[in-house]
Amino acid sequence: MPLINYIDAQGNKFEADVAVGENIMQGAVDNMIDGILGECGGACACATCHCYIDDAFISKVPEADAAEKDLLTAVVDPKENSRLSCQIEVTADMEGFTVHLPESQY
Ligand code: FES
Repeated sequence: MPLINYIDAQGNKFEADVAVGENIMQGAVDNMIDGILGECGGACACATCHCYIDDAFISKVPEADAAEKDLLTAVVDPKENSRLSCQIEVTADMEGFTVHLPESQY
């Protein structure tokens, strides 16, 4: 299981082993990591799983689809590297993958 890093808005790092095939949002929720709410359960309908992909890992994830891009227009403080973490599936080559959590989700 790849180790995924979640860094909060204050710079605190939390780690979780997340199974291949699981998504980044569920990894945070299952490990009680604050800053990702996941209110719709991963249905790409709430945007409470907003995160920022660390620059070093941006090439590891496919581009957001149209539905995700649409929902990302509704998040607080969107950035170039904004993604919905429920739409990012963990793959075997994602050891050390890092996301940053927006202050607005605490
Ligand atoms: Fe609702 Fe990701 S959990 S959009």
